[in-house]
Amino acid sequence: MSFVIAIDGPAASGKGTLARRLAQHYGLAFLDTGSLYRAVGVSVIAAGGDPADERAALAAARALDMSRIDERAIRTREAGEAASLVAVMAPVRAAILQFQRDFAARPPGGQRGAVLDGRDIGTVVCPDADVKIFVTASPEVRAHRRWLELKNSGADVSEAQVLEDTRERDRRDAERATSPMRPAPDAHLLDTTDLSIEAAFGEAVRIIDKSTS
Ligand code: DC
Repeated sequence: MSFVIAIDGPAASGKGTLARRLAQHYGLAFLDTGSLYRAVGVSVIAAGGDPADERAALAAARALDMSRIDERAIRTREAGEAASLVAVMAPVRAAILQFQRDFAARPPGGQRGAVLDGRDIGTVVCPDADVKIFVTASPEVRAHRRWLELKNSGADVSEAQVLEDTRERDRRDAERATSPMRPAPDAHLLDTTDLSIEAAFGEAVRIIDKSTS
């Protein structure tokens, strides 16, 4: 049986960094499921389509080669916007659900388990995950973190604009009909508003070790 850790939470809550470090710490495979939605959005745009067009998004999701995702292209602000549009579409979510479940059940490289991060890992993708953590932080702190990331990558965008994007994305992620973002009833909540990356990591390790001992 694969050992699965589900890390969910809103954009820029720190869940990606946390999930990656936990995977390293426990020797598990890691899947950033947001990158799948981003890759679908980017692929629609690259083909000259509109990410809000469900037929185009579904075709892109079905054709997606998960092993050939362009890491740079999917990290832009536009890619994040496109991802949040395609992520509301039930057929798109269904098209990439099995890939995520297979990754968790049979992690690549014969590893003994996996850490998946996203919005619906604990509720839909892996409802039987061994440990579930829902990572949060205030919208202002999350927008500030994302703005710093974008600025460092050379993007010309104001912090106010990033805060507006963050609120809009939260709304879309939480209000969509299919797999809305919400903590699973058995998830541990981890608020990183006032925590450094190090402190958040320490807290997550404490939660995991306690729930598996
Ligand atoms: O975590 P992120 O910013 O890379 O996610 C991009 C978008 O994909 C975001 O709007 C939410 C969506 N997403 C989702 O709906 N379900 C997931 N498991 C992961 C991401």
